Amino acid sequence: MMEIKTMGVVGAGQMGGGIAQVAAASGFSVVMSDIKDEFVQRGKDAISKSLDRFVKKGKLTAEQKDETMGRITGTTDLSMMKNADFVVEAATENESLKLGIFRDLDGICGEEVILSSNTSSISITKIAAATRRPGKVIGMHFMNPVPMMVLVEVIRGLETSDETYNTVEDLAKKLGKTPVPANDFPGFISNRILMPMINEAIYTLFEGVGTPESIDAIMKLGMNHPMGPLTLADLIGLDTCLAIMNVLYEGFGDPKYRPCPLLKKYVDAGFLGRKTGRGFYTYES
Ligand code: CAA
Repeated sequence: MMEIKTMGVVGAGQMGGGIAQVAAASGFSVVMSDIKDEFVQRGKDAISKSLDRFVKKGKLTAEQKDETMGRITGTTDLSMMKNADFVVEAATENESLKLGIFRDLDGICGEEVILSSNTSSISITKIAAATRRPGKVIGMHFMNPVPMMVLVEVIRGLETSDETYNTVEDLAKKLGKTPVPANDFPGFISNRILMPMINEAIYTLFEGVGTPESIDAIMKLGMNHPMGPLTLADLIGLDTCLAIMNVLYEGFGDPKYRPCPLLKKYVDAGFLGRKTGRGFYTYES
């Protein structure tokens, strides 16, 4: 088994940035890529801000923050992933995009390198089939906000090898996370359960059963959820929520997973949640 020293992270958004941060804070060198310089820079800024919160709390020194930042190399050149011993892809939740990235990574990375995807719902088996190394492709699904959430859902595709699974389990622990296995079905375990709940909360709003505030307060105070489902949807991103509901809907062919029309309308309007300043709630930039 090859020793992992450098992690490649494809995507510098909320998830990719968070994964890069956690990897760098755990001592790995990180190559973080995105398609535009401004996305890479935005990702680095978000990492810096998040690390500042740990410095403020005294959980990290200013030197440790600088060292962590220093371990992250940003790039817009995917071929830089040739330097990585392990890759996590965290691009937009879009199947054809991900298949293209995996085809490219398969050509760029050494044949020993495991290629993992942070996809929240797309078939790992299908992603693996876009490569010539399906035994070395696996789902490594982090939760948002990555620096705070301990779970990593580890998803085995049809051909994922035991060695690949064991390497990822071990790596997740090195990142301070708790790996939990799931099999490859639409939405895996996390979003098979979470996203229909969020979608139902949106239906509750759509049908006028309650205001966003009352829906969220009921789930927070009544079920002890740390945030209400609509606040959480805004955090995840409404485009991502819709993409996941569509994967469930199409994947199972069951109308119980149909995305709420209000969710579609908000996405059409560009109300994507916190990242655009407006979703079910409005946010100052
Ligand atoms: N970086 C660093 N620190 C952060 C942070 C970040 N990005 N986000 C929050 N924090 C820290 C805060 O600094 C604060 O620290 P202290 O308590 O030590 O002061 C702590 O987290 C709590 O933050 P807040 O007081 O601002 O708010 P909170 O108590 O509501 O906690 C939360 C924030 C941890 C996000 C909590 O609300 C929570 O657990 N929410 C649910 C998150 C969740 O369900 N995530 C899964 C989403 S689904 C997903 O990701 C997968 C998918 O496929 C869709």
